Amino acid sequence: MADEYILRMSNITKTFPGVVALNDVHLDVRPGTVHALVGENGAGKSTLMKVLIGMYQKDSGTVVFDGQEVDLHETAEGLDLGISMIHQELAPVPEMTVAENIYLGREPLNGLRLVDKALMRRMAQELFDEWSIPLDPAVQMKKLTVASMQLVEIAKAISYDAKAIIMDEPTSAITDREVDLLFTMIRRLRDRGTAIIYISHKMDEIFKISDEITVFRDGQWVLTEPASSLDIPALITAMVGRELTHMFPKEEAEIGDVLLEVRNLNRGPLVKDVSFTLRKGEILGLAGLVGAGRTEVLETIFGVHRAESGQILVDGERVDVHEPRDAIAAGMALLTEDRRATGIMGVLSVRDNMFAAALPRYSPGGMVDRKRIDRAAEEQRTALAIKTPSLDQLIKNLSGGNQQKVLVSRWLLTMPDILMIDEPTRGIDVGAKSEIHRIISTLAKEGKAVLMVSSEMPEILGMSDRILVMHEGEVTGEVSRAEATQDKIMQLATGTDAAA
Ligand SMILES: Nc1ncnc2c1ncn2[C@@H]1O[C@H](COP(=O)(O)OP(=O)(O)OP(=O)(O)O)[C@@H](O)[C@H]1O
Ligand SMILES: [Mg+2]
Repeated sequence: MADEYILRMSNITKTFPGVVALNDVHLDVRPGTVHALVGENGAGKSTLMKVLIGMYQKDSGTVVFDGQEVDLHETAEGLDLGISMIHQELAPVPEMTVAENIYLGREPLNGLRLVDKALMRRMAQELFDEWSIPLDPAVQMKKLTVASMQLVEIAKAISYDAKAIIMDEPTSAITDREVDLLFTMIRRLRDRGTAIIYISHKMDEIFKISDEITVFRDGQWVLTEPASSLDIPALITAMVGRELTHMFPKEEAEIGDVLLEVRNLNRGPLVKDVSFTLRKGEILGLAGLVGAGRTEVLETIFGVHRAESGQILVDGERVDVHEPRDAIAAGMALLTEDRRATGIMGVLSVRDNMFAAALPRYSPGGMVDRKRIDRAAEEQRTALAIKTPSLDQLIKNLSGGNQQKVLVSRWLLTMPDILMIDEPTRGIDVGAKSEIHRIISTLAKEGKAVLMVSSEMPEILGMSDRILVMHEGEVTGEVSRAEATQDKIMQLATGTDAAA
């Protein structure tokens, strides 16, 4: 009986100042199974996993792993026991190579007791070959896309030969193709007897990959069931505590004049002769595989990178964008995909993070209007259901999804005319997701123009009036809302569209 589970966490309670993150919860995981852990943003999923690996200390409760009661105080102890974790917030060492990142802290040494770089590279290559990971171990980490970094993290977790692997939103940054690769890897691991704890907000994935599902709500355990006895509506109801009907509440908006025009934009291999228009009231989806250049297009328009050639027109007038400040002055806003690197200022409060871009609007004559700021901040907190004990809380203490919501509010507060959003609902739970979709839809209805990159097919199909598809830096096609299907987009995204 004792061996039925590889992991038994019982009566776990964990509090932070002002927050009961976990209230007497339990989680029992069988070996050779995929166990999904789901719940809204701030439900306590990541906290429980951090308690498990020894990153956080629990207030009370017991953890039994592989038949032994354990009380871990350092993550290294967790790894020794056979528990590895892919974190929600990736923390690679950007200057190091892929191989160096994977073997960080356990580098193979040569006869002179120096790091054997050649061997390390070979080990990484073997690992990649075994698991069909299409990456070069010798490349610098900072050269990779977020998606590839996520693959490196996955490879690293596997390389420990762990008995249990925790995957905290492993697919937040990857598209369908890499998800397939990951799922093949997960199934192989499972068949070898590894237990996988799988945290995700993507309902379809959860049902595709998991054997059992545990739901948390507000720091409390709600249910544990075989996946086969649940379906998506039942799971959502368990998570949210109510029924959720409108998944993509896109409203009809009047499409007006062209607001943004991009002509023959070029920058390196990922932005090749890109041209398009974006009208008032329109939501233009930008689809494509990871690495197709979607993010680079947004960043080039916004002045994060300088264009090599091409023109940007706003309201028919040319604007010279040399840096983001120029784009902001022209009425643009950009919600970036890599929130850790380019978005969140960890040591500042939730309020200060919200107002990082809109402060000038709230400082008439240079005087900061504290009252108005507090009011607007409270409004955002309510509208997006941001879970935080106070607006003074440091943003780094918020759950991953709630950090993302703060960034969304940062750009909403600038009241941009042109809103460019890169994976706007990455890591955001189903309830808040439809809330963000509703806000985007309302903005369009008010006459704003929205350019949205998303790797989630239902989001692209559900929200866009028109979809541009990119492949290897080029726009390979355009489809209207009416004619858009997943197949059509995938054909264009993989460059296999016969008709084109
Ligand atoms: N270091 C910390 N200091 C203070 N509060 C924290 C800390 N870590 C987590 N919390 C709080 O504990 C609660 C649970 O957070 P947790 O990160 O476990 O949520 P989650 O279920 O992983 O959510 P998400 O889906 O957004 O990642 C949240 O209210 C969060 O703000
Ligand atoms: Mg989390």
